[in-house]
Amino acid sequence: ESVPSPDGKRILLATPRGYCAGVDRAVDAVEKALELYGAPVYVRKEIVHNKFVVETLSKRGAVFVAETDEVPEGARVVFSAHGVSPAVHAQAEARKLATIDATCPLVTKVHKEAVRFARDDFDILLIGHDGHEEVEGTHGEAPDHIQVVNGPHEVDQVEVRDPDKVIWLSQTTLSVDETMETVRLLRERFPNLQDPPSDDICYATQNRQVAVKKLAPDADVVIVVGSANSSNSVRLVEVALDAGAGSAHRVDKADEIDPAWFDGATTVGLSSGASVPEILVREVIERLKELGFTGVEEVRTATEDVLFSLPKNLRADLKASG
Ligand code: F3S
Repeated sequence: ESVPSPDGKRILLATPRGYCAGVDRAVDAVEKALELYGAPVYVRKEIVHNKFVVETLSKRGAVFVAETDEVPEGARVVFSAHGVSPAVHAQAEARKLATIDATCPLVTKVHKEAVRFARDDFDILLIGHDGHEEVEGTHGEAPDHIQVVNGPHEVDQVEVRDPDKVIWLSQTTLSVDETMETVRLLRERFPNLQDPPSDDICYATQNRQVAVKKLAPDADVVIVVGSANSSNSVRLVEVALDAGAGSAHRVDKADEIDPAWFDGATTVGLSSGASVPEILVREVIERLKELGFTGVEEVRTATEDVLFSLPKNLRADLKASG
């Protein structure tokens, strides 16, 4: 992957970056559904938070809707990688929709934790961003037991019934460092606060942040490819700045790059969010080369081999179709 540059102007390419196993599976599910059942295949919300992916699938016959009531009765709908609340499953059932649930298994894991601790009557503090689809879905598993904590600034407002029966859970795509700060402050208030049984911030989010942290101190500018509504992409920009990058910008694609960002810069760090196809990164590399950053050095901090199989009912239909 590494290519030296004659004048030292270089790109540090973060690895791992881009597609995680959950996104790969969700996009594959829509593609396979289109092939198998034919268009249209309805998709509730953006299958993953990336403009390019949504546009590409739309062209192939996926129809993105905000809610299940926009799907014709009896039609097929895919639920996005971010997960849905039980209420959405019930609505789909009431409308006799055929559902393909592309919820990332690592989001489902958090749902299960929420159900379990609600059953044990804990107060659940869900660290995450209000209004994000994943948080809506998890919250919907146990609305009476869960309160959303948006970050360290909201810790003071938290009220619980029994300070000895409190657990925190989190959205999968948060900043690890900021979440730990929120937890530290929560624990000052509730010393017996329980930790989740395993990390809720997923492996992909963590790995992408570690790689950006490593290259940021050497980067005059960091570019993160990702859409504005992609939580993990936006976090990568913050992580880059916190770790010492001179500046950091998020772009959906190469044509959003402003050459003025690179005045006086010799090193550009580059990464992409978990919902970003590699082709968009390649296009950014080409654009940066035009701007003189001809060297490419890979900065690898982990190797990923996570793979999730397609949703069960889709897998069964694919098998039956031969
Ligand atoms: Fe799943 Fe993490 Fe990707 S929760 S969808 S593996 S960013």
